[in-house]
Parts: sequence; structure tokens; C-alpha cells
Amino acid sequence: AILHPSRGGSLTKQLSLMTLTLQNSALILIMHYSRIMPPISDHRYFTSTAVFLNELIKLGVSLSLALFESSQTLAPDTPVSVLLEQIYNSVFSGDGWKLVVPAVFYTFQNLLQYVAVGNLDAVQFQVLYQLKILTTATFSVALLRRPLGFKRWMSLVVLTLGVCVVSLPATSSSEGSDSIILRDATDQFFPRSLHELGQASPELYSPHPPPAHRLLPRSATYEGITEDLIPPEPQMSYSAGVAAVLVAAAVSGLTGVYFEKLLKQGPTQASVWIRNVQLSFYSLIAALLGGVIWQDGEGIREHGFFEGYNWVVWTAVALQAAGGLVASLVIRDADNIVKNFATSISIVISMLVSVVIFDFTVTWTFLFGTGLVLFSTYLYSIPERHLPGRCPPPVRI
Ligand code: C5P
Repeated sequence: AILHPSRGGSLTKQLSLMTLTLQNSALILIMHYSRIMPPISDHRYFTSTAVFLNELIKLGVSLSLALFESSQTLAPDTPVSVLLEQIYNSVFSGDGWKLVVPAVFYTFQNLLQYVAVGNLDAVQFQVLYQLKILTTATFSVALLRRPLGFKRWMSLVVLTLGVCVVSLPATSSSEGSDSIILRDATDQFFPRSLHELGQASPELYSPHPPPAHRLLPRSATYEGITEDLIPPEPQMSYSAGVAAVLVAAAVSGLTGVYFEKLLKQGPTQASVWIRNVQLSFYSLIAALLGGVIWQDGEGIREHGFFEGYNWVVWTAVALQAAGGLVASLVIRDADNIVKNFATSISIVISMLVSVVIFDFTVTWTFLFGTGLVLFSTYLYSIPERHLPGRCPPPVRI
């Protein structure tokens, strides 16, 4: 991640940024896998339960850290009940209620993220999601009154172009003629060629159809037998994935900036851990009402809250909780735009891992679009007065 020198470059900030970069790659890859892996029971896990548990973990950690923080300001023998009372007052007094807004939006965004990542390749999701730089910048100008120079607006134009290029669907000509090329772990369940198709039994065909953009033939004939490759009514699609990621990017920009405004310019000066307790508390209610009860209520009543949970799902939940906490530190020590740069760099890590693990096919169009996105990130990060060649670069980390 590249930082403006005027914002300083403390060890904590650099550590948070590096952690966020690695966490982001790991989270998206694991989350993607958790949505496409063969379900371990009747039903795949309910995403609302994962979002709920993520908030529960964040609440527990934030509360513990808020208690610790508070204990540092009081005498060593202060009873825990006094500490708890102090935390209770900090959380529920003043402008704490304002966290209801980002709580509802972040919960919605986190639910959408599961939809998007289950319908798109992990890297494709990440590149499209970089549009949040655009929305974050716009809301930073509007809400935080931080003007952007010409170069930064230009970098946002390049970013948008890059995202458009990446979102162009792959054409069938790049996929070869007699081979069915899949790009992720569904490979295990899809025969790779018509020859293998003849040997595979129909029940091995994926219970989860791949996104429509992969342009698989709907059926294939081998030795006179025609088999349906894609079930007639696919439940998930590329367009649903793109729609989800676009809305999530818009919500991310607005919510991140709103949280930053409350943290840095709010009428009440509360620590990041108190803000996180407030945020997770209201998010927990939002995830319970909007997710667990409204979105998945029927299924959860039938199959149970922990249906489909295995170590992969738990890892995704833990990584998401860790990411949220680290993100809040980055917002405190730097800002939302710097946070997005860190996750931009994680695209490269995810791409390399996806090629190896998910058999991800990197096309020239994809590489070009990703190159534009990364270049725009770099361009955005160079302060106007310090373009290369004029002054020593103000780059830290
Ligand atoms: O994609 P984006 O960078 O907007 O995601 C930020 C993530 O960090 C969200 O999942 C949000 O729930 C989480 N977060 C958090 N606590 C904060 C700020 C963000 O858990 N204080």
C-alpha cells in the first residue's frame, strides 16, 4: 500500500495495511470456495448465519479491547462492574445511535458479498469490487469535504475503464473447440472433455451450475447419448453476481466514509473499539432481523442454524471478522481510500492462487483490465506535486 507522507507511516498502520492485503486475498478465495464446494449436507450453509457469527465475533473482540482500553485509564483494582458500566455508558450515550446506519448498510453489503463471490470467479469479483474506490472517492468529497485533484479524477476514469474491460464476458472462441474449460473447483464435478463425459456418470455433474458467462454448452452428445450439462433452471448467474458486486461497491463507499466521518469528525469522540462495539451491536440486530429471520428464516427453521458448516465456512467467518477489525484500524490510522489500495494489491495474490488452485483461466482481456485497475490505483496514490521524475517519491511501506 502506498501512503501519503503527510498521513505518517506508523508501524501499526503499515502492519494493518499488510494484514488487510493478505486477509483480503485469503477471505475472497475461501469465501468463493465455501460457495462452490460440494455441500457437506442437504443444504449449503446459510450466508446470513455467517454474517451473524461474523458480527458476534467482532462484538466479542471489540468489547474485550474496549474493556482493556478502559481499564488502562482507571486504577488497577477497579471492579469489572465499574468498567462494564463505563463501556455501557460510552456505547449507548451520545451519538452512538448513529451507528445504526452503517450497521444496516454493512450487513446488507456483507450479505451481497456472499452472493457476488458465489457467482463470480474470486479474482473477477475482486477487480469489479474495486469500483468501490470510485464510490469511496465520491463520498469522501461529498461527506468529508476532501477535494480531489485532476490526476485523481483521471485515475478514477482509468479504474472504471479497467473494470469495464474485466467485466466483458469471455468469448467461446477462447475456450477451445472440443474441451469444456472450467475455471474453478467445480472442475472436480464437471468432466473436462467430451471423452471424459462419456465415462462420467450423470450424478457427478455439478449440483451447482457454473455462472452463465462461462458459456458452457447446455448439453453434449457422446456416442449418441445427449446429456444436460447445465440444469434447466440455474439458481445463480453471472448477471446476479455482477449486480450484487456493483451494489456492494456503492454501499461500501457510502458506509466506509460515513463510519470514518463518525470516527474522526463525530460530535462524540469515542475510541475505535467503542465505535466497533456500537457498530457490531447494531449489525448483530440487523443480521438477525434482515438475514437470519427474513432472508433465510424458513430454511434455517427447517435445516438448523449450523446446517452446512465445516472448517471452510468457519475460516471464512473468522477471516471476515478479522478483516472488519483490521479495516477499522486502517480507517482510523489512514482512510478508506488507502484501505481500498491495500485490497487492490491483493488482486495479484488472488490471481496467482486462483490459477493454481481454481484452475483460473487468465485471458488477455482480463490481464489488460486488471493492469488498468492496478495502474489507476498507483496513479491515485501519487500526490499531485510528486509525480515521478519531479521529486523523490513520497512512497512508504
Ligand atoms: O469492502 P469494504 O472494504 O467496504 O468492507 C469493509 C468490511 O469491514 C465490511 O465487511 C465491514 O463489515 C467491515 N467493517 C467492520 N468494522 C468497521 C468497518 C468495517 O467490521 N469499523
